Amino acid sequence: MATSRGERGGGDRTQCSFCGRAERAAGRLVAGPTPGLFICDACVQLCGHMLEAEKGGKPAAARPVPQNVPKPHEIYTFLNEYVVGQEHVKKVLSVAVHNHYRRLQPNNSLGDGHALADVEIEKSNVLLLGPTGTGKTLLARTLARCLNVPFSISDATTLTEAGYVGDDVENILVRLFQAADFSVARAETGIIYVDEIDKIARRTENVSLTRDVSGEGVQQGLLKILEGTVASVPPQGGRKHPQQETIKINTQHILFICGGAFTGLDDIIRRRLSSSSALGFGAPLRDNKGSHEAQVQPEDLIKYGMIPEFVGRLPVVTALTPLSEDDLVRVLVEPKNCLIRQYQKLLALDGVDLTFTDSALRELARLAMRKGTGARGLRAMLETVMLDVMFEVPQRKNVKTFRVTRNMVQAQRATIEEGAENAVAAAVA
Ligand SMILES: Nc1ncnc2c1ncn2[C@@H]1O[C@H](COP(=O)(O)OP(=O)(O)OP(=O)(O)O)[C@@H](O)[C@H]1O
Ligand SMILES: [Mg+2]
Repeated sequence: MATSRGERGGGDRTQCSFCGRAERAAGRLVAGPTPGLFICDACVQLCGHMLEAEKGGKPAAARPVPQNVPKPHEIYTFLNEYVVGQEHVKKVLSVAVHNHYRRLQPNNSLGDGHALADVEIEKSNVLLLGPTGTGKTLLARTLARCLNVPFSISDATTLTEAGYVGDDVENILVRLFQAADFSVARAETGIIYVDEIDKIARRTENVSLTRDVSGEGVQQGLLKILEGTVASVPPQGGRKHPQQETIKINTQHILFICGGAFTGLDDIIRRRLSSSSALGFGAPLRDNKGSHEAQVQPEDLIKYGMIPEFVGRLPVVTALTPLSEDDLVRVLVEPKNCLIRQYQKLLALDGVDLTFTDSALRELARLAMRKGTGARGLRAMLETVMLDVMFEVPQRKNVKTFRVTRNMVQAQRATIEEGAENAVAAAVA
C-alpha cells in the first residue's frame, strides 16, 4: 500500500473511494491493492475513531499520561495572567489540578517497603461558589488553556433526568470524549467543569411529592459519574436510545470541578451564623454585610437544595469573592487579553492609537459596580461606550489617536439612560 498523489495515474479521476473527495481536495490519498481504490486521510481518521469507539476500551498503546506535571505554582502563575483577584480560589485549583496530574503519573507509587506504599490517592472534586461575574467560568476556561489533559466545560442547565426533553447526564462525558480526540483512554484522565451547578438545586427544601424535573433527578444522575463508574455514552451525544451504539467511559480518574453562583446562599449562611452565635456556638458574627460564602458548610448547600450525597462528592469547596471597584479597574487593563487591549488591537489594525484616561477607567468600574453584575457589567458598559468610536473612527482618515475620557463614559451613560446626544460622535468630529 502506498500513499499517493496520483501514483496510479488517472489524474483528476483519482478520488477517495469512501467519501468521493478528489485528490486535489483531499490532503492525502492512500492507494489500496485494487487499481482505482483509494482512501483519504480524513476517512482514515474517522474509521480510527469509529473503531476505537466501538471497542469501547483503551487503545493498544499505553494510557497516555501528561508529561512534566506543572507545579501548583506554575498553574497559579498562569491563572494570574488572566484572572484578577480570587487568590485563594486560584491556589485551591492549582493544588487540585496538580494533584490530579500527579495521580496519573506512572511513577506515583512508592517502593514496596514504604509505609505509604498501599495508600491510594483519591481525587478531590471541587465546588466553586461565587456571585455572578467574578470569574468562575473564566477560571475554568483558563485552566483548560493551561492543561494538557483533556478538559471540557458543560452546562448543568442543559441536563435533565432520563425521560424528559434535554440531554442525558452522560453528555458531559461526551464533551470530554470529544475534547480527548475521541480517545477513551485520554478522556478517562481528563477534567470536567460543570457550570451553573446551582441551577439543578431542588427548588424547595421539602421533598416534593411531584417529581422535580430539572433538579434532584439530575443531581441523582450525576452522583455515580462524580464518584466513579463505568458509564455508557452515546459517542455523538444526545439522548440514548436502545439501538444506539455506546462507548464505555470509566469516570474514576476524571476530576470534576463544579461552579455556580448560588444566589441566596449567603442569606442561608448568615442565618445559620447568627442563630449559632445567638446560642453561643461558633465565631461571633462581625457584621451583617459583605459575603459569608467563605464560611459555607455542607449543611448550607443542602439547605439551598443540593442533595446530601451530591454535596458529599465535592469535598473541596471554595468561594470567589465579589470584585471591588479597584479589582474592576484591574480587570479592564491587566489580564493578557483584557477588554481594553482587545479594543486597542482592533483600532490599531486601522492605524489608530487608542488610549483611556485613568478617570475613564475608574468611571467604568464605578458604573459596573452599580450594576452589581461583577465584571460582566464592564463588558456591556464598554461596548456601549465604544460602539460609536468603533463606528466612526475607522472611516476618518485624519484620526490617528483617540483618547476615551471620563466625560465620554458619563455622556454615554446618559445616552442610554436619558437619550442625550451622542457625545462620542461629537468628540470625533
Ligand atoms: N476575576 C476576574 N478577572 C478578570 N476578568 C474577570 C474576572 N471575573 C470576571 N471577569 C470577566 O467577566 C466576564 C464574566 O466572567 P465569568 O463568565 O467568569 O463569570 P461567572 O463567575 O462565571 O458568572 P456567572 O455566575 O454569571 O456565570 C468575563 O468576560 C470575564 O473575562
Ligand atoms: Mg459562569
